[in-house]
Amino acid sequence: MTEKTLYDRLGGEAGIRTVVDDFYDRLVADEKLGPFFDGADLDRLRETQTAFLCEAAGGPQRYDGPPVREAHLDVPFEPAHIERAITILSATLADAGVPEEDADRVVGAVGATQAELLATDDE
Ligand code: HEM
Repeated sequence: MTEKTLYDRLGGEAGIRTVVDDFYDRLVADEKLGPFFDGADLDRLRETQTAFLCEAAGGPQRYDGPPVREAHLDVPFEPAHIERAITILSATLADAGVPEEDADRVVGAVGATQAELLATDDE
C-alpha cells in the first residue's frame, strides 16, 4: 500500500480549492489585509493560488503565473502582513479539519516564499 500524498490528504484540487476560497474570503474581510485586495482580480487570484498550492502539495497542477515577487511589486506590504496572512491560512486549514501536521506542511510551503517576497534589490 502506498502512502497518500499531502495533495491527496487535502482532498485533491477540490479540497484545496475550498480552502483557498475560504482563505480569500477571510483575507478580504480582514481589516488590515483586506484593503490590499481592493481592485484585485479575485477570481484570477483564487485560480492561480489553487494551482500554486496544488503544486506545492505535490499535485499535478503547475502554477504558471508571474514569479511570486513580481506579482507583489505593486503591493506595498510589510513582513507583519505576511505573518498575518500565514496566521489566517493556518486558521483556515484548521477549520477545514486539516490535521496540524499537514497544515504545517502547507504553511511551510507558503512560508518558504517569504524571503523572495521581501527581497528588495533587483536580481
Ligand atoms: C505569504 C505568501 C504569499 C504568497 C505565496 C502569495 C502568492 C501570490 C501569487 C502567486 C500571486 C499572483 C497571482 C496572479 O498574478 O495570478 C499573488 C498576488 C497578489 N498578492 Fe500575494 N502572496 C503572498 C502574500 C501576500 C500578502 C501578505 C498580501 C497582502 C497583504 C498579498 C497580496 C496580493 C495581491 C493584492 C495580489 C494581486 C496583485 C495584482 O492585482 O496583480 N499577497 N500573491
